[in-house]
Amino acid sequence: MIRRPLIALALAIAALGVLAGGLAWLLDAPKPPPGADRAQRLYYAFCAECHGVDGRGSWRAALFLVRAGDLTNAPRMASLSDAYLFDLIKHGGAPFGRPGMPASGARLRDDDIALLARHVRTLSAR
Ligand code: HEC
Repeated sequence: MIRRPLIALALAIAALGVLAGGLAWLLDAPKPPPGADRAQRLYYAFCAECHGVDGRGSWRAALFLVRAGDLTNAPRMASLSDAYLFDLIKHGGAPFGRPGMPASGARLRDDDIALLARHVRTLSAR
C-alpha cells in the first residue's frame, strides 16, 4: 500500500521526461542536408530558426509569436540592396524599423555575413 504513491510519482516523472524530450525535439533547429555549402550551413545555424529552412518563416518561431516575414517574396527581395541585406544581418533590423530581426555582427565575420546576404537571395529565386 505504501508503495503506490511512489509508483505514481515515478510515472509522473517519466511522463514529464517524455514531454520535455518531445518539446526539445520539436523546438530543435533543423539540421542542414549533407553536402550543404558554407552559406547554407550558416543559414541553418543562424537564420532558419526564425525564417524556416525555405525562408517562408518557421512555425517554431510562430509558436513564440515571431513573424519573420517571407524571404521568398521575389519583388520584395529584389527591392533590397546588397548593402541593406549586409547591414541588416550585421546590425539587426532595429536601425531600419524592423526590430524583430536580430543583429549577428557579434557572432559572424563580415565575409560570412556577405555569404548569407547572397544566400538569402537564392531563397526567392526558386
Ligand atoms: C530571432 C528570429 C530571427 C532570426 C534568428 C533571424 N531573423 Fe531575419 N527577421 C526576423 C524578423 C522578425 C523579421 C521581420 C522584421 C520586421 O518586419 O519587423 C526579419 C526580417 C528579415 C529580412 C527581411 C528584411 C526586409 O526588409 O524585408 C531578411 C532579409 C532577414 N530577416 C534575413 C535574416 C538572415 C540572413 C538571418 C540569419 C543571419 C536572420 N534573418 C535571422 C527574425 C529573425
